[in-house]
Amino acid sequence: MPNFESYPALLNIINGRYSCRAYDLGRELLDRDLITAVIDAARLAPSACNRQPWLFMVVEGPEATEKIYQAYPRDWARNAQAYIIALAEPDKAWHRPEDGKDHSDVDLAIAIEHICLAATALGLGTCWICNYDPEKLRAGFNIPAQYEPIAIIPLGYPAPGSPATAKNRKPTDDIIRWGSF
Ligand SMILES: Cc1cc2nc3c(=O)[nH]c(=O)nc-3n(C[C@H](O)[C@H](O)[C@H](O)COP(=O)(O)O)c2cc1C
Repeated sequence: MPNFESYPALLNIINGRYSCRAYDLGRELLDRDLITAVIDAARLAPSACNRQPWLFMVVEGPEATEKIYQAYPRDWARNAQAYIIALAEPDKAWHRPEDGKDHSDVDLAIAIEHICLAATALGLGTCWICNYDPEKLRAGFNIPAQYEPIAIIPLGYPAPGSPATAKNRKPTDDIIRWGSF
């Protein structure tokens, strides 16, 4: 009989992650060890053929925040303590021989979600951001051409009193097909 003891703890973290759009601007910058711990969870993510075609750029402070704002002009996104810019290197990723499909997006998505879950476990808020201007982001942070920015993840202390958004999800029965379509 498998041991399911750790499942509630895992589900608790998965449930606790939400798109945090209110950060506590008054708080101190994050400790580098804390950010490293969060990124270590990404390092452990699986990737196609174990290619690990990723790089995580950590930026913080007023100048970096302004550059983030230029690429993603939303006031709420200015208040995080730090930002992780998740970069893919498609040339290093596995491409399926049959059709050439580049799997760097898939690899990065898994790693980024590990970041979000680890941050949740450490009491930090995150939000996936993809709706930015990639060229402005690239120019602002001198991102070399071989890297593709996949997401910006603000990382910070959730503002006090800002509740997590309710989970609005399809029911399980709607998303499972047992045995046949
Ligand atoms: C690939 C991806 C891109 C997203 N891009 C943005 C974004 O640019 N801005 C934003 O505010 N939220 C963004 N989100 C957050 C989603 O809106 C959010 O995850 C979804 O509404 C579910 O809410 P929850 O994360 O609180 O559970 C993105 C999420 C994903 C997975």
